[in-house]
Amino acid sequence: MRFIAATGCLALAAGLAGAPASGVGPQERSSTYVVSGSYTYRTYCAGCHGEKGKGDGPLAENLQFLPPDLTQMAKRNGGDYPTSTIRRIVDGREPVEGRGGPDMPVWGDAFKNTETGFDDEQVRLKIASVVDYVRTLQQQ
Ligand code: HEC
Repeated sequence: MRFIAATGCLALAAGLAGAPASGVGPQERSSTYVVSGSYTYRTYCAGCHGEKGKGDGPLAENLQFLPPDLTQMAKRNGGDYPTSTIRRIVDGREPVEGRGGPDMPVWGDAFKNTETGFDDEQVRLKIASVVDYVRTLQQQ
C-alpha cells in the first residue's frame, strides 16, 4: 500500500514537471513515468492479462471471457498502436462500441476510488502511463 502511494507521488511529480493540460507531452515520458506505468501494469493488469500481456495471468482462467492478448494490438491495427482507443478502453468511463465485457474493470473509476487523493488529472496520467507501458509489450 505504501508502495502504491509512492508510485502515485512519482506520477504527480512527473505531472508537475511540465505536463500539458491535454495529451501526453514528451516531458511526461521520463524514466519515472515509464517505471510508474510498468508498476501500474504489474499491480492492476498482469493478474488477468499476464506479465507480458499474453492474456495468461493467474486469474485468467476464472473469467467468463479470456483476457485478450495485449501484445497484438498494434499488429491488429495495421502496425499502429491505437493509443487513444486503448486509453478509452482502459479508462472505461467513455463507452467504446463492442467492448465492455463484465470482466474488464473500469479503471478510470477504480483508480479514482482506491487511491487516496487521486484527482481526474492524476487518474488520466496513470492511465496514460500504463497505456504507454502496454505499447512496450507489442510484438510484430
Ligand atoms: C479482472 C481481469 C482483468 C484485469 C485486472 C484487467 N483486464 Fe483488461 N480485459 C479483461 C477482459 C476480460 C477483457 C476483454 C473485455 C471485452 O472485450 O469486452 C479486457 C480487455 C482489455 C483491453 C482491450 C483489448 C482489445 O483487444 O481490444 C485492454 C487494452 C485492456 N484490457 C487493458 C487492461 C489494462 C491496461 C489493465 C490494468 C490497468 C487491465 N486491462 C486489467 C480483463 C482484465
